[in-house]
Amino acid sequence: MPGTPEGFWQQRITIGSFSVPRFMAAPLDGVTDSPLRQLIREFSPDVLLFSEMRHVACVINERTGYSLKFKKIEHPLCFQVSANIERFIDDAVEKIAECGFDMLNLNLGCPARAVVKSGSGSALMANLPQLKMVVTKLRRATEGVMPFTVKIRAGFKERNAVEVAQILEDHGAEMIAVHPRTAPEGFTSRLDFDLVKQIKERTSVPLIFSGNVNSFDRAKKTYERTGVDGFMIGRALWGCPWKIHEIEEAAAGRTFTISTLKTLWYARRHLEINLDHYGPKHGLNMFKKQLPQYIRGVEGAAEMRRDLLRLQSPEEMQDAFRGLYRRLEKAQELIVGDEHVVQQPPASQATHASM
Ligand SMILES: Cc1cc2nc3c(=O)[nH]c(=O)nc-3n(C[C@H](O)[C@H](O)[C@H](O)COP(=O)(O)O)c2cc1C
Repeated sequence: MPGTPEGFWQQRITIGSFSVPRFMAAPLDGVTDSPLRQLIREFSPDVLLFSEMRHVACVINERTGYSLKFKKIEHPLCFQVSANIERFIDDAVEKIAECGFDMLNLNLGCPARAVVKSGSGSALMANLPQLKMVVTKLRRATEGVMPFTVKIRAGFKERNAVEVAQILEDHGAEMIAVHPRTAPEGFTSRLDFDLVKQIKERTSVPLIFSGNVNSFDRAKKTYERTGVDGFMIGRALWGCPWKIHEIEEAAAGRTFTISTLKTLWYARRHLEINLDHYGPKHGLNMFKKQLPQYIRGVEGAAEMRRDLLRLQSPEEMQDAFRGLYRRLEKAQELIVGDEHVVQQPPASQATHASM
């Protein structure tokens, strides 16, 4: 595979009627909810974002409404479904479109036991007749409504991603994302770059790589080994909503850094957005899932995590953050009047959201 063509990283990819940057946010169940997506958007104004996965039946019966609720700034936003049978698909797609989502994605990657047991997620990759039925129905339901995309694995147990990708393309998928590990392989085994290269050679829709892309260097090496069109950033976004921006800056030859003080500022902002989205009780609980990721690596993280996770009300959490800022500001002597001043990045880095 030759080196990267001139201007490659700045070029956009086309998915249906949408033109989006090559880097996008992967769907992470329990992580990439609306609050995290809103924060990602503050750094990356037009990257494609994905919802968490919901079974088509759950979309129809959704009671809390959390997974279908989002803010305008989250566009372009793709809703991810799982499905094992044709039933529910029409109604689910109609509801997703009514809610204003821009695209649909079918999950063929989830290895969770409950999902696989029902024959959806990664299990559908091992049942090709059923897969063809589901994608035919989804393509019909989305035709003229929104682009239809799919996220696959190397295979359920057998590595059949090349065959599955060809079936998906033949059935009208307009983008395919691939996490090149089988379901039992989890996250520790090696990524199958050769398999992705084969998919790229045998299909012509945009192909997105998902797996361990946490830096521009990784993305570049992945491109050189596979020739993919784009990259999903997954776990690297957890506690790090600026990750895609950081990678895009590196692709443009610039460096983006963020101080501890500003990291904590964004953690608190995450809390505020959570409270707005979920209400006080659930918002605080959901925030506690995200919090440890923000303070990873901060000096005294273990003690900080223990103290913060004990807190029972949003007010206590907000007060605790104020205390943390004061301690840090004193330590860093970064306070000017009432204004927080972060360590000044070089001019080339100063493009992210203002405080
Ligand atoms: C906590 C967690 C939840 C995930 N949830 C989903 C999901 O709902 N849908 C999906 O297609 N993939 C899901 N994935 C897989 C990721 O999208 C991604 O393919 C995988 O984590 C590899 O990319 P990464 O190394 O950049 O994280 C999940 C992964 C994790 C760690």
